[in-house]
This record gives sequence, structure tokens and C-alpha cells, in this order.
Amino acid sequence: MKRALTPGTFDPITSGHLDVITRAAQLVDEVVVAVAVSRKKGPLFSLEERVDLVCAATSHLPNVRVEPFDGLLVDFARKMDATVVVKGLRAITDFEYEFQMTALNYQLSQELETLFIMSPPQYMYLSSSIVREIASLGGDVARFVPPCVVGALEGKFASAR
Ligand code: PNS
Repeated sequence: MKRALTPGTFDPITSGHLDVITRAAQLVDEVVVAVAVSRKKGPLFSLEERVDLVCAATSHLPNVRVEPFDGLLVDFARKMDATVVVKGLRAITDFEYEFQMTALNYQLSQELETLFIMSPPQYMYLSSSIVREIASLGGDVARFVPPCVVGALEGKFASAR
């Protein structure tokens, strides 16, 4: 069985993430969406909330499951028996960071291959951080995130306004 990881912070999951997960699920037998604890980033949503939102957004995809993870991605891949990491590549600004991560992950584990899926134009400039900013300022994010995330963001920012 070919199993892939799609790792990220998912704070929150966007339509761009969902596009990558959906396309990865067509390439392998099973996709494990690996939701990182990401303490350094100080996420808006708790780990449990982020996992729940990814679960809700991917519930229609039968070969996708969602797991939280802490520590090194290569160790988590080994634990999950995953041999591929699939990531989205947006604008050229992603390249340097992803290039570094891929090169280092490859040095840590030659058993793990990283594949990139190019973002379609509508998601090229979409990020969780820009979605959080738009939502925090009262903007409509419905076209940028799965439906379950719209209400979750409203819940986070309603009391702040
Ligand atoms: O959505 P993000 O924040 O860009 O995701 C980054 C993530 C979680 C995929 C990356 O930070 C990661 O793989 N973290 C795990 C720790 C790790 O393995 N670090 C070394 C990478 S060379």
C-alpha cells in the first residue's frame, strides 16, 4: 500500500490545502494529513480544533485520514509507514523554504520522497495567515476555505469585534 503524508499547520485548513489533499488522494492508496503541533507559530486554533476542521473538510474523501504530530516529519512518516510527502507549491516565494525542507528531510531519511503539486491559479496566493487576517478584519472568507472553517473563524473573531 502506498501511503502519503500531507503535513502542515493547517491554522486553519484552506481550499488550497484541500486541493492538494484531494489530488494526493488520487495518486496513492491512502493519505494521512499530518497536523503539526507548531508551538513556535502560536496557532490561532488549538491542535484539537485544527484536527477537527481538517477531518470535517476531508470527510468526503474515503482514503484520507487525519493525525496530529509532534517532532520530526521523517520520524512521523516512519511511524505511519508513509514513503511519500506531498506538498503544495504556490508562488515562487514558497520555493526556497520548501527546497530547504526537502533537502534536509532527504538527508534525514532517504526512504522518504517529497512530491510537489503546483497550486492552481486561484490558490496561488492563498495562505492560512492571509485568511486569518481577512477574517479578523470582518472580511468574507467563504471562497477561500471549506464551509466548516467559515463558522469556526467567525467564532474566533466575533468576540474580538
Ligand atoms: O503549514 P506549515 O506551517 O508550512 O507546515 C510546516 C511543517 C509542519 C510541514 C514543517 O514545519 C514540518 O515538517 N515540521 C516538523 C518538524 C521537522 O521535521 N522539521 C525539520 C524539517 S527539515
